[in-house]
Amino acid sequence: MHNAAFAALGLDWAYVPLPVPPERVGEAVRGLAALGFAGANITVPHKQAVIPFLDELTPIARAVGAVNTLVVRPDGSLLGDNTDGAGFMADLWAHGVRVCGSMGVSEYKPSALPHSHTPTRALVLGAGGAARAVVYALAEAGARVAVANRTQDRAQALCQALGAALEATAETQSAQRDSECLSDLRVSAVRPSSRLSAHPFPDALPELAAEAELIVNTTSLGLHEGDPLPWDAALPFRPGQVVYDLIYNRPTALLALARSQGATAIDGLGMLAHQGARAFELWTGVAAPAEVMLEAIREP
Ligand SMILES: NC(=O)c1ccc[n+]([C@@H]2O[C@H](COP(=O)([O-])OP(=O)(O)OC[C@H]3O[C@@H](n4cnc5c(N)ncnc54)[C@H](OP(=O)(O)O)[C@@H]3O)[C@@H](O)[C@H]2O)c1
Repeated sequence: MHNAAFAALGLDWAYVPLPVPPERVGEAVRGLAALGFAGANITVPHKQAVIPFLDELTPIARAVGAVNTLVVRPDGSLLGDNTDGAGFMADLWAHGVRVCGSMGVSEYKPSALPHSHTPTRALVLGAGGAARAVVYALAEAGARVAVANRTQDRAQALCQALGAALEATAETQSAQRDSECLSDLRVSAVRPSSRLSAHPFPDALPELAAEAELIVNTTSLGLHEGDPLPWDAALPFRPGQVVYDLIYNRPTALLALARSQGATAIDGLGMLAHQGARAFELWTGVAAPAEVMLEAIREP
């Protein structure tokens, strides 16, 4: 998708895959500046391991505890960022779902888009790496977020860590929030750390499902044919509810069920494209052609 974007904008850049063994990740990223790279994406299994070799992290990367994008700055120093949360919010926005204060989406001309959903209560299924980015983005934007995970301790640890990080950055973030959101008392009255709550999955679903306006599957259930639903099929979805599944490699049973019951169903392909678009902009300083990138991954 990056090479498609470079071609569309006539940029003489190239994006190349570079497999790196775990024990050489430090050497690899330290060599980027000398080799003339503007940046890199970091993927499994290096997203945490790369951190000690970087000069600075963005507040989001620090809070999430994982880096998926590196920027090589003009002096050769390395900045680590995490664009998954921004990609998720941008894709929600592109689908007409507006969570107040959505970070990282100003580039996507939000005023030009109609917004049919404005959820303030979200239910996130899962508490792994992707969940951390999604939960941080939603809570930072002002939503109340219930996190339900099979291993409840992990959900609790996530809420504690992200709550503390959100409190630390609350003042900066509230300064960036737009006036429409500031006037939304449902959002602004709640302290960031109080917006997060941890629950057992699947036992807490009946209690949480009814009030959730946005339900996000960040578990890996659905990646493979025959996986169980990350949901209780006895709990109905409803029109007006938005169900987002981060899985993008195949149509999931969760989204099929949600759609059949009148909810808005969104898959993770747009998040993938938008997190890439965000990285593209960090490297090039040029607005990313997000639609071109989305098309490139839709039909590789
Ligand atoms: N669209 C995008 O751009 C994008 C970006 C990032 C990730 N993703 C997708 O997001 C998904 C999660 O990625 P990740 O990096 O967060 O993975 P991860 O860190 O391994 O987390 C996996 C999560 O799934 C839960 N889980 C796994 N098997 C389960 C089961 N049988 N029953 C209930 N819960 C189960 C885990 O619960 P426990 O804590 O109890 O183990 C954990 O919460 C993957 O499908 C990935 O492809 C998409």
